[in-house]
This record gives sequence, structure tokens and C-alpha cells, in this order.
Amino acid sequence: MDLKQYVTIVEDWPKPGIRFKDISTIMDNGPAYKFAVDEIVKYAREVGAEIIVGPEARGFIIGCPVAYALEIGFAPVRKPGKLPREVISADYGLEYGTDTLTMHKDALKPGQKVLIVDDLLATGGTVGATIDLINQLGGEVVGAAFLIELSYLNGRDQLKGYDIRTLIQY
Ligand code: PRP
Repeated sequence: MDLKQYVTIVEDWPKPGIRFKDISTIMDNGPAYKFAVDEIVKYAREVGAEIIVGPEARGFIIGCPVAYALEIGFAPVRKPGKLPREVISADYGLEYGTDTLTMHKDALKPGQKVLIVDDLLATGGTVGATIDLINQLGGEVVGAAFLIELSYLNGRDQLKGYDIRTLIQY
């Protein structure tokens, strides 16, 4: 299936000059959504994932059905102030300033094989901070899967040495 045809390009959103890649038109198409999830499930099996880690919010949309299909767990990565128990944090750089992501301190078991799943690899800041969090918890990143890769933003530079699978490239 050519998944790219189900992505809607929204011109000048959220700011002028940005061509936003809207995945809601994959999600609202049952066969396209299932195909996308199934492709990542196959990859998760190949790399032997024991748990899925996904950043909010769109990472949940892709990552949770992968975990469900494999009958493995899902651990959320969230912005500060969202997780109710003790958390660890990782900062990452934005164009102006920094942002922070958190995970529960007990979200992973040491040595657990982790697949990171998100909808989009853009600058790689989010996935870089996610790897930092997983490393702090002693998990082993066995791969990272994304629905869409914006290759012109060079997010792969944040992922040197890691196995990556992306389903749609721009
Ligand atoms: C988007 C997207 C990825 C991230 C990719 O999330 O879902 O998580 O940006 O960008 P990067 O590679 O440059 O870090 P966003 O922060 O917009 O949050 P949302 O999913 O809650 O909308």
C-alpha cells in the first residue's frame, strides 16, 4: 500500500512556510491505519522488542496499537507535569531554548529491549531525549520506528548507531 497518498499536506500550518504533514487522514482510514501499524509490528518482531516507548501525543496513536498487537507493554514519554509518580527527565534543544520530556522512574526493567515508536522524525530532538530517558532507566534501545521521516531535517543524525525504520519519507 502506498501510505503517502493518505497523508494530507496542510500549507502554512502552524506557521507560514510550513507544509504540515497531517496523519489524521491515515488514522481515519481503517485499512491504511492498520497497514501502518502492521508494518511497525513486523519491524518490532524483527528487532525483538519487549516494550514500546512512545512520546506524547501522536506517538501514542501509533505506538499503543503496536504494543497491543504484540501483547507487550507501552511506556509513555510525556511533557513535564503530566505523569503522577516519580519521574526522570531529559532536556533537548529547540530552535529557541530547550524543552523537557519525562518518564516514570520505574517504567522499564534494566536490560529490557525497547522499541521507540513515534509518528514523525523531524529534527530528532524528541527521539534524542527519548533515548536519553531510556538509557537513564537502563533499557536497551533495539530500534526506532516512525510513520514519517522529514529527511531534509537530518533527524537521523541524532540516531547514529541505532536501527531505524520509517514508512514514509519526504
Ligand atoms: C511532534 C511529533 C514528534 C516530534 C518530532 O510532536 O509527534 O514527536 O514532534 O519532531 P522532532 O524530531 O523535531 O523532535 P509534538 O511535539 O508536536 O507533540 P504532539 O505529538 O503532542 O503534537
